[in-house]
Amino acid sequence: MSTQSEVNQRRGHTVTHTTDQSFDSDDASKQSRKVNKGAIDRAIAKISVNPYFVYPFTILLFISCQLAISYSFTGTWHYGLIRHTDPSSRIFTASELARYDGSNAGRPIYLSILNDVFDVSSGKEFYGKEGGYSVFAGRDGSRAFITGCFDEQGATHDLRGLSERQIESLKKWRDFYHEHATYKFVGRLETPHIDENAPLPDDNCK
Ligand code: HEM
Repeated sequence: MSTQSEVNQRRGHTVTHTTDQSFDSDDASKQSRKVNKGAIDRAIAKISVNPYFVYPFTILLFISCQLAISYSFTGTWHYGLIRHTDPSSRIFTASELARYDGSNAGRPIYLSILNDVFDVSSGKEFYGKEGGYSVFAGRDGSRAFITGCFDEQGATHDLRGLSERQIESLKKWRDFYHEHATYKFVGRLETPHIDENAPLPDDNCK
């Protein structure tokens, strides 16, 4: 009884069969390389013309370049065009500060203590026109934090005659505003002039 391979040999199939197989595998790998290459080419073509990829990328690149140029020339990320980003760089004059005394509902309420200016709008019940501490709004009334003289005369920035200890407790009030969850430090008050020859403020207001 002949085996299948003997039969194949007799029919002259062996060689033909082997050669066909090798052709098949070559073709397949060529085909697969072609398919892969085609897929890669298509992916590259898609990326290079797809506006959803190209436009945001170009915009991002443009913004990054602008930021880098601005920073290297002006030391800021915005060509120095935006001011007051650092609150300590905003300087108020006394008359500017007075505009924020709570009398205009559309404006925030600011107060100053030891020349640090805070937005205390969230404490409107204290510093608004009806509030018990409205005298502090729109001015630097540092002295009144120590004396408790909540009138126009007493709410002054004039600290002459106060003791070291009183100044320390005034600093604690300032810390209170700095550390407050909703009050915001917004700038510094230009030190208002104090006439050294003027009489000391009267602290016996009660
Ligand atoms: C030197 C004297 C005083 C000063 C400088 C002073 C200052 C202040 C200030 C600035 C606030 C507002 C705090 C904030 O923004 O949250 C406040 C709130 C308040 N003060 Fe005075 N105060 C003084 C004396 C008094 C006295 C004697 C009493 C009581 C008889 C009092 C009762 C209150 C009360 C109840 C509040 C509201 C507290 C709250 O709801 O959180 N204060 N005080």
